Amino acid sequence: MDKPHPEGLPTYSDATASTSRQQPRWLNRRQKRRTLRLVAITCLAYLAYSASKIAGNTKKLESTLSIERLHEDYATCATLRRKPVEPTSRREHNKRWMNGTKPLLIRNATIWTGEPARGTSEEDARAGKGWSWIISSDVFVDRGLIVEIAPDIPIRALPQDKEVFDAQGRLLTAGIVDMHSHAGLSSVGNLQDDVNELSGDITPYVRSIDGLDPLQPEMQYIKSGGVTTSLFLPGSGNNMGGEAYVLKFAVGKKNGREEISQRDMFADPDRNWRYMKMACGENPKRTYGRAGKHGPYSRLGEAWEFRHALEQATKYVKEQDDWCAAADATGVEKMRTYLKQELEWESLGAVLRGQVRVNTHCYTIPDLEAFVRHTNEFKFRVYAFHHAHQTFLVPEVLKRAWGGTPAAALFADNMYYKVEAYRASERAGALLYAHNITPTYVSDNPVLNSQHVVFEAAKAYGYGLPYHAALAGVTSAPAELLGLGSRIGKIKEGFDADIVVWDSDPLSVGATPVQVWIDGAKQFEDPVVLKKPAAKAIDPDPELVNELMMEVHTGTVVYKGISHVYHADVLGAHDASQELVAVISNGELTCIGPCADEVDAAQTSGTPIITLKNGYITPPFTAFSSSLGLIEIDAERDTHDGKLPTDGVSRAVDGLLFGGKQLARAWEHGVTRAISAPSTGSIDAKGVSAGFKTAAKHKLKEGAIWADEVGLHYTLTLSAKSDKTPSMSSAIGALRAKLLDAIDAGEINETSVPTKEQYEEKTYLRRVVSGSMPLILSAHSADTIASIIRLKAEVEAAIARSAFTSAPTLRVVVIGGAESHLVAQELSATAIAVVLAPLLPHAQTWDQRRSLTGAPLTNGTTINYLLDAGVLIGISVEEVWETRDLGLLAGIAYANSEGRLSFKEALDLIGANFYKMLGIEGVAESGRGVDWVVWEGSPLEIGGRIRGMGGQDKVFVWQ
Ligand SMILES: *[C@@H]1O[C@H](CO)[C@@H](O)[C@H](O)[C@H]1NC(C)=O
Ligand SMILES: *[C@@H]1O[C@H](CO)[C@@H](O)[C@H](O)[C@H]1NC(C)=O
Ligand SMILES: *[C@@H]1O[C@H](CO)[C@@H](O)[C@H](O)[C@H]1NC(C)=O
Ligand SMILES: *[C@@H]1O[C@H](CO)[C@@H](O)[C@H](O)[C@H]1NC(C)=O
Repeated sequence: MDKPHPEGLPTYSDATASTSRQQPRWLNRRQKRRTLRLVAITCLAYLAYSASKIAGNTKKLESTLSIERLHEDYATCATLRRKPVEPTSRREHNKRWMNGTKPLLIRNATIWTGEPARGTSEEDARAGKGWSWIISSDVFVDRGLIVEIAPDIPIRALPQDKEVFDAQGRLLTAGIVDMHSHAGLSSVGNLQDDVNELSGDITPYVRSIDGLDPLQPEMQYIKSGGVTTSLFLPGSGNNMGGEAYVLKFAVGKKNGREEISQRDMFADPDRNWRYMKMACGENPKRTYGRAGKHGPYSRLGEAWEFRHALEQATKYVKEQDDWCAAADATGVEKMRTYLKQELEWESLGAVLRGQVRVNTHCYTIPDLEAFVRHTNEFKFRVYAFHHAHQTFLVPEVLKRAWGGTPAAALFADNMYYKVEAYRASERAGALLYAHNITPTYVSDNPVLNSQHVVFEAAKAYGYGLPYHAALAGVTSAPAELLGLGSRIGKIKEGFDADIVVWDSDPLSVGATPVQVWIDGAKQFEDPVVLKKPAAKAIDPDPELVNELMMEVHTGTVVYKGISHVYHADVLGAHDASQELVAVISNGELTCIGPCADEVDAAQTSGTPIITLKNGYITPPFTAFSSSLGLIEIDAERDTHDGKLPTDGVSRAVDGLLFGGKQLARAWEHGVTRAISAPSTGSIDAKGVSAGFKTAAKHKLKEGAIWADEVGLHYTLTLSAKSDKTPSMSSAIGALRAKLLDAIDAGEINETSVPTKEQYEEKTYLRRVVSGSMPLILSAHSADTIASIIRLKAEVEAAIARSAFTSAPTLRVVVIGGAESHLVAQELSATAIAVVLAPLLPHAQTWDQRRSLTGAPLTNGTTINYLLDAGVLIGISVEEVWETRDLGLLAGIAYANSEGRLSFKEALDLIGANFYKMLGIEGVAESGRGVDWVVWEGSPLEIGGRIRGMGGQDKVFVWQ
């Protein structure tokens, strides 16, 4: 910064000093003029002299530049001008193929090629015609390529040393492509983080590859979900986050690579295309903007940051192009300068040259529209908007993008987690597809575990995206968007042999690979295969495209076509041998069976009669300890009940917030009741939970709160470490001390609790030790859970020694339970119930690192071990948006239980079991209100949809 002159004027002394150093000080003005004239004359004379010498010796004329370097620079011009083109000629072999990987014959597979039948018009294909699974076909693979797809390939014609895999009719697809992952950039348990170079907002010059660790365990478990290729992007903290890389998940010799290296993971060893991550909206401005210091402070500033960077890159490109053009025209040796080359603008220059596929994180209309303006102003193409929650609202804006319409890289139903994501639709994919915009489904790993990215596509199908487009959304569509559409994403002759054989339709719940190949190399030496019924492909339901609308009825409604009844109050659980009728009058189920009289009456009176295909009746679902009703937008404190108190406990019932979108979505998915404790999101809670109805307008409505106080919750995950309890040992010690104090305070007698103490922590603790209130502890680590098991025994022993009249029955529930399989027997022996949240954990945090990620890597997941041990189990979620998926989560548990769960028992995981483990079966029975749900299709499967719910004298009908 300039220092002001004492008189308040700036000083120019430095500037004069520096110029005067280059000129002799003693020259006066006249002398200077004379000198200049002299210099000019000398120059002219020299020019004349050199001109006369040109013919004789050209080299001498040149500047002092290195000829060698000029030629190198000129060679760079060719690189700068290169336009990536996908090779069209047939490949002799896949460049990633390692000599030594044997040829492979996969016999008897049911194949999804990723293309419609030959001759299908584009219009028909879009409409879903011409797509099918090809039954009983073989696939022959050699040199990393798919060589032949045909039934009964004669084995004798094939090389001797081939391997043969019998698919036994199972479903076979191309490897899954997840075009948004940060895998390998942060270490197990999130201990290290190299996702985002947060030193500046504009860092197009950094590269994700420089931080990528091939040894991260997630590389293996992501692949165990069938994911063979990903775009590894830097994070979204910066407007320009840096270069991204497309890698395959084969790591090291055992996966058919030369060694464990980043380069061995490049999907395209030629690196024909480059990739870059950009991001708009809240992240960059929240990360960088500092009032009065630097931007971007607002979206206005972000647009400037983008344009300013692109302006500089444009200048850089022009300068290079001018140099190259001049070198073309005059010959490079005549150039007076070297080619300008700066790492800072090299990659962004390549964007402007069309060599880089830009992928931009953008949620909202202002962000999308501003970015589309930038593409037109600077003439570069954005290939996909990621997150893109509002793209479905503005397809025409997307179509205005320069160079081609970007795709939308979406989650199926992960939404509302920040303001930008608060306007979103589960039907976004279907709506975009209807407007000719390609939806793809991504994990943003670790946001979602990329292992299960195919589940996103499955849900998208359930929400109306045609089946073939949903499968394309995780295979051929991302492959094409990565510029690898002629190599990966399809099962087609000449394509890379990235292949998955599944144990069930990939768009069904719980779909799990049986084996995965990358470039023809088998990825799992000894894969675990779950025992499941023979897999059949889904028969896509064209009805799912049509959105159902909810109406409220007060009178009678008749449902026909009910084939499964799982409602204990009505008939007991069973699958009906014939289709039944369900009659609902004033919200009550009044008849199930043939109900002939009722049907006759309905036909004459004009009562609505709804005919279902494969109808189900079930009880409604319950969300337990999910922060439903206490948190609306995860990232926005104003929308929460608030922080947890350090001292004492609060009651959820005092803070419940009704009328939010999270509650509405849960309710529409059959989650009519919730039990929530004060929480800041996740499974960490502290205080007293309340039982309430998710559809209530407010807590004073009749039946809105069906239990003021359910249980006493404490946190024993890693977030238990706080100022007051700085270690896990102190957190467990503090809880022990509280419980022992409560024993000393004596058995509770509700009629004698002093008014003042009615709602105090010590009173709730007395209820806990007296057996009238459950203790609910969040914990993932097997070591913490073991401490809880010991704690329960210690406290019960203390109760036994005390003057309590009742037997010691501490009722303990663990929520979380990622590592609970390690202590399954002990949990069972001490009658501690476990609520798995999430159902399918991985190593998100250190205390979950021993999670079982499931087949083909591990022999099932935690729930199977708990079931085998006889532990009472429930399923909950980590993040509140997931409450709508409780039915599907129970479906995954059911599908992959290898017969350990009946359908009814799977439903109980998100209903009856909670009431049992909390000891409130009676409470729940009375005043629960909404009492039954009618579904079309299985409530535990993709595509099952609610057609009716009842209660409060009303029938909610969807048609
Ligand atoms: C693969 O290696 C074998 C043995 O070293 C060699 O005979 C063969 O020519 C190689 N094949 C190719 C395609 O390089
Ligand atoms: C293919 O697998 C199915 C299912 O296991 C079996 O029924 C069928 O016989 C097999 N076909 C051949 C040709 O092996
Ligand atoms: C509970 O307290 C009330 C009032 O002090 C007393 O009358 C009653 O006997 C107590 N009940 C028990 C079981 O101690
Ligand atoms: C998986 O565990 C079950 C017992 O729960 C056992 O019967 C089965 O053999 C195991 N499978 C494998 C492949 O280890």
